[in-house]
Amino acid sequence: MIHLNPVREVVDVSLHIYRTGLVSGIGGNVSARMGDRVFITPTMVPLGEVSLRNVVLVDLNGRVIRGGRPSSELGLHLEVYRARPDVGGIVHTHSPHARAFSIAGVQIEKMEGFMGLGRGYIPMVPYHPPGSRELAAECGRVMVDEDAAILENHGVVCAGEGLRDALLLAEFIEESARTQFIAETLKSMKK
Ligand code: 13P
Repeated sequence: MIHLNPVREVVDVSLHIYRTGLVSGIGGNVSARMGDRVFITPTMVPLGEVSLRNVVLVDLNGRVIRGGRPSSELGLHLEVYRARPDVGGIVHTHSPHARAFSIAGVQIEKMEGFMGLGRGYIPMVPYHPPGSRELAAECGRVMVDEDAAILENHGVVCAGEGLRDALLLAEFIEESARTQFIAETLKSMKK
């Protein structure tokens, strides 16, 4: 996908993620790639406060070309871009239901729709501290052939051809986790 205005897209998707509760506080980060340039949200800034003025431009080696300090998960975004030349946008969220699954260590089913034909589970990346090289490397490995990963004890990462695709996938995963939780609760109530 061609980003007509990647900075605008990073801003719009960040605000949407914040307003719809897929993150709170300073959680989450968003990026878009255009050629060998990556536009990413700044670190320690709530996604609800991302604007055209504070999106950071970096190269694929993580060198800052324009702006302040990039997200502490820049390495993770870059590893996924390196592993997936087809990916143009990435979101990292702390979606409440999916995050609860990641903390409980319960896998989220791939439901019909975006995630295929209801077979298998979204892969879970074993816990490494947020922002660590290990987390970034493991995520790059897992997402070579997966568009989404659950980060154990942490949250969700989704990639797409465009940033909008990554966002829609993150929304679908949160809905899947919520639905799975309700369905499993109801099953346990069956007489
Ligand atoms: P940043 O503010 O550095 O992007 O960190 C937020 C986050 O969710 C880390 O995993």
